[in-house]
Amino acid sequence: MLYDIQKEILRLKKEKDFCILAHSYQSEDILDIADFTGDSYALSVKAKGISNQNILMCGVRFMAETAKLLSPEKNVYLANPDAGCPMAEQFSKEYIQKLINDEYKGYAVVAYINTTTALKTVCDVCVTSSSAVKIVKNMPEKNILFIPDCNLGAYVAENCPEKNIKLLNGGCPVHAAITKEEALASKAKHPDALLLVHPECRKEVTDLADFAGSTADIMNFAMSSDAKEFIIGTENSIIQHLQIMCPDKKFFVMSKNLICNDMKLTTITDVYNTIAGFGGEEIILDDETITKAVGCINKMIELG
Ligand code: 13P
Ligand code: SF4
Repeated sequence: MLYDIQKEILRLKKEKDFCILAHSYQSEDILDIADFTGDSYALSVKAKGISNQNILMCGVRFMAETAKLLSPEKNVYLANPDAGCPMAEQFSKEYIQKLINDEYKGYAVVAYINTTTALKTVCDVCVTSSSAVKIVKNMPEKNILFIPDCNLGAYVAENCPEKNIKLLNGGCPVHAAITKEEALASKAKHPDALLLVHPECRKEVTDLADFAGSTADIMNFAMSSDAKEFIIGTENSIIQHLQIMCPDKKFFVMSKNLICNDMKLTTITDVYNTIAGFGGEEIILDDETITKAVGCINKMIELG
């Protein structure tokens, strides 16, 4: 059953020619009215082929900027302008450029897509959590500087032993804050459940997992597994989505702290306000930045 505000959004989006993209960490009422839902990689691929004139991103800023880079002729909006990603802003373009010039000359620079657009202008290829291993394997270069998340980078390095991967000391403050003790406590509390963990978590946590993979991988694993109980080691919002999709299974949090405040900022009212024309923010990027930054996103889609 749809609420009145959801019905109004569906009516308005048709009238105003909007396509709504929503990340899997968004709330159920937003996912219900979205044209397309998925992880960062799936949303990026989708953003390239949209026929509507207007795109509304329900997620965080780098996702809306990625959509703008891939569809520069469209009007792209971020539903809640305060929704950023603390990981994306960890390193400045100047700092990374200096590393490339001094310490890592000749290295290919692989950037987690959770980076600013400025940073993307100095990277060779972007990856998402679900595409990282495949893309790094498909790259011809052996020497790779992986930025900014050292946990995801270490996970990629473990799965691509043929590459020489250098890491920086960055990461997602939400996933990286989870301790081995919390993971062990969740396993002790739910001894029959499988532990599914995102590679943005520390290695000491992923080492305890029955399965480590991106948000999409975790969801697919839980949906297709014969097991009946799962501890979810990524943003807690997907527990509700999984519970709705798999009513015969049980899902538990690995930690009450696995909540991304930025992903939680967007409300159904923000979606309505943006489409109605009195909220949200239109993403504006200059042509030179678009030309420089789009290359690494296109390369991601090509290699992924
Ligand atoms: P995905 O690559 O799963 O979309 O991850 C987004 C994210 O913010 C993970 O922390
Ligand atoms: Fe950024 Fe981490 Fe939030 Fe994802 S979960 S948007 S990486 S802070």
